Amino acid sequence: MTLQDIDEVIAAFAEAAAAAERAGFDGIELHGAHGYLIDSFLWAGTNRRTDAYGGDTASRARFAAEIVAAVRAAVSPGFPVVFRLSQWKAEHYDARLAGTPEELEQLLTPLAAAGVDAFHASTRRYWLPEFEGSSLNLAGWTRKLTGKAAITVGSVGLDQAFSGVRGNIPQARTTGIGPLLDRLELDEFDLVAVGRALLADPDWPAKALTGRLDETVPYDTELLKTLA
Ligand SMILES: Cc1cc2nc3c(=O)[nH]c(=O)nc-3n(C[C@H](O)[C@H](O)[C@H](O)COP(=O)(O)O)c2cc1C
Repeated sequence: MTLQDIDEVIAAFAEAAAAAERAGFDGIELHGAHGYLIDSFLWAGTNRRTDAYGGDTASRARFAAEIVAAVRAAVSPGFPVVFRLSQWKAEHYDARLAGTPEELEQLLTPLAAAGVDAFHASTRRYWLPEFEGSSLNLAGWTRKLTGKAAITVGSVGLDQAFSGVRGNIPQARTTGIGPLLDRLELDEFDLVAVGRALLADPDWPAKALTGRLDETVPYDTELLKTLA
């Protein structure tokens, strides 16, 4: 991307956020995860730029931070701006954006300063520790390092991780959410996102709230074919 391309894309994100607010939405989420455009700047594996948008961690965060700042300026002060991030990339589940909490902090600090209200830390299994020496998951570390609200996600209510929309999507059995609730009570994260469990059963939240998870409809790969 040329510098002009970058300016145009940043302006387009801001315009889209303002349009979302005008249309009556309650907030926006910038998708900075899974190897998409913003993430391809964040991750050293794809960012080979030698200008101000590439190189050290802070420079790789610059494109994302400029988008956040432009979006923040284009919407009302109280309009929530969420930023989604992930270590993993589509089809490359072992990819790592940050190898240490320090690297993660260098990436997230400019985004928090630019006006992110909450981070949505995309993982495929919410219960896995992100770094050695602590049980915190990616959302937990994000909250701890930035002081911002954090959303966790990944196999909530299911026993098999999401593995891509093409090819091998495992059948998943329904599980309880006791360990998730324990972590919520400890304030490891603030919000929980639910994907497949909710696709399979739109009543999942009501059943979870009333202790009827054993009545939920299991996630089934046949169901996915009907959504494709
Ligand atoms: C059918 C389906 C399609 C998805 N499509 C996308 C996608 O296009 N882009 C993306 O970033 N994530 C996509 N995801 C991943 C979800 O955003 C979410 O991170 C993932 O499902 C983990 O949550 P879960 O374990 O509760 O399902 C998709 C998930 C499913 C089940």
